Amino acid sequence: MRKQIAAANWKMNLTAQQAETLLNDVLQANIQLSDNQEAIFAVPFPYLVMTSKLVGERSNYFIAAQNCYHQPSGAFTGEVSAEMLKSIGIKYCVVGHSERREYFDETNAQLAEKINLLFKNDITPIFCCGEPLSVREAEGQNAYVEKQIQESLFHLSADELGRLVIAYEPIWAIGTGKTASTAQAQDIQQFVRSVIAKKYGADLASNIPILYGGSVKANNAAELFASEDVDGGLVGGASLVAKDFVEIIKALK
Ligand code: PGA
Repeated sequence: MRKQIAAANWKMNLTAQQAETLLNDVLQANIQLSDNQEAIFAVPFPYLVMTSKLVGERSNYFIAAQNCYHQPSGAFTGEVSAEMLKSIGIKYCVVGHSERREYFDETNAQLAEKINLLFKNDITPIFCCGEPLSVREAEGQNAYVEKQIQESLFHLSADELGRLVIAYEPIWAIGTGKTASTAQAQDIQQFVRSVIAKKYGADLASNIPILYGGSVKANNAAELFASEDVDGGLVGGASLVAKDFVEIIKALK
């Protein structure tokens, strides 16, 4: 069975003390993950080391970065490289979150560069894609997401692509309390898998975890995750409440 993942995206929230309390509270629930299940916490850069220590050697629990820069190193004041993340033992990094695309003008081509650097440093990208409301209303979501995937991923080797995690996040559902219906999530995630299958083959596509993101909550996670092509979630708001994120982890298939 392919990997099922509950990924917390803390975004730019929490002081160090709050972050420590939140993570400890989730860890203390002591959820035993099966071999194919993972819990990931995408934390702000200053907390990567502290949270990695808290997670320690617990199997299938990981800390992720929320971003990295698209150049390997150099005079880019304030930026963080994939190599830096590797050097502190980070195994996952979110790439192309819609907030970064929108507020920091990240392009599909830049995201391709980030993904290359992450693979070079043995870090698994969690690649985000998803359409804005206007595109959904015009029923253009499939073409929109296909283009994001083609322009950021289709240069990868099959070996690299096979190590990727994808998160489909409709922008109209992020932080709005408006979750995609289970049928909407399943439809487009099946489509995403078919796009990968066309280029890389059905076997490889069937092994890629495709997460859903956008107002995943404790009370809708199980229904969303039950769908064939929904392999867990990328969770913003609800990941900031320990008992809610615990329920979301428990909802994994
Ligand atoms: P949300 O955020 O769960 O608060 O909608 C999801 C995300 O942006 O990853």
